[in-house]
Amino acid sequence: MGLTTYNHISVPSFMYGTAWKKDATAWLVELAVESGFTAIDTANQLIHYDEARVGEALQTLAHKGVKREALFLQSKFTSADGQDHRTPYDPSADLTTQVQQSFDSSLQHLHTDYLDSYVLHAPFSRRGLGAADWEVWEAMEALHQAVKTKLIGVSNITAGQLAQLCQEAHVRPMMVQNRCFAVKTWDGEVREICQDQGIIYQGFSLLTANRDVLAEPEVCALAEREGVVPAQVVFRFAMQVGMLPLTGTANQQHMLEDLAVERISLSAEEVQFIETIML
Ligand SMILES: NC(=O)c1ccc[n+]([C@@H]2O[C@H](COP(=O)([O-])OP(=O)(O)OC[C@H]3O[C@@H](n4cnc5c(N)ncnc54)[C@H](OP(=O)(O)O)[C@@H]3O)[C@@H](O)[C@H]2O)c1
Repeated sequence: MGLTTYNHISVPSFMYGTAWKKDATAWLVELAVESGFTAIDTANQLIHYDEARVGEALQTLAHKGVKREALFLQSKFTSADGQDHRTPYDPSADLTTQVQQSFDSSLQHLHTDYLDSYVLHAPFSRRGLGAADWEVWEAMEALHQAVKTKLIGVSNITAGQLAQLCQEAHVRPMMVQNRCFAVKTWDGEVREICQDQGIIYQGFSLLTANRDVLAEPEVCALAEREGVVPAQVVFRFAMQVGMLPLTGTANQQHMLEDLAVERISLSAEEVQFIETIML
């Protein structure tokens, strides 16, 4: 099962996230793909990700016969205020050049000549979109128009910013990647815009941002009835409300559990219950 963007690109229904894996990044990506994940999320931002080690895993997998086209690779442009001294571009260059240099460096790290999805890690501020955001977005639109990336998207965006981007951009995003808190209606406002605009919504930190949900006795009872664990209930809920969940597990049993949610199903009442659980 998968999702399709408004520009008709197929996207897998679960994504493996590579943040905070450090030296273990390469073997965990290899393990994730061998366990069944086909979509990988990274960023050209050494504070939290090691994109070059993702690339090492891809080379090993290629030697084992995993073709590039069988994988969905997503990376991000992170502005200089989200980087340390290891900025993967010239931070004194204009933003258009920074995006081009960061993107080229991502291709090198990942040993590929295209990305499936390229995401703006975050707008420059939490309020509105300024000239810097528009310059970065236009540079990303150019990468899309040059078919260097099949999709462009944005992360850590508010509903107001997303509405503005959809209204004013030449190419509206095909992907949104946001942290998803049950106490904030599972990012309901942003998801609603995504649904209206045909944008795929990727939810991250579904487990780490919702520890109370995982411990909720009724969620535990529901999991037991279904013969699964609470983490699987949350991921399955995410899928049934139309999200593309990310998992950050470093454990193969959890990888397999996460992928197995494709095979379970929650009733409409159970989905409704989880949707409103923390309100
Ligand atoms: N755009 C952004 O700004 C941004 C920010 C944060 C994250 N992300 C992306 O989202 C990805 C996921 O984020 P996250 O690590 O916060 O996600 P997460 O999947 O909510 O959290 C992972 C944690 O949950 C634990 N866990 C327990 N049972 C699990 C199970 N069955 N399946 C999965 N995990 C289980 C994991 O422990 P075990 O390792 O023991 O399984 C790990 O400690 C990141 O790797 C990154 O790609 C993006």
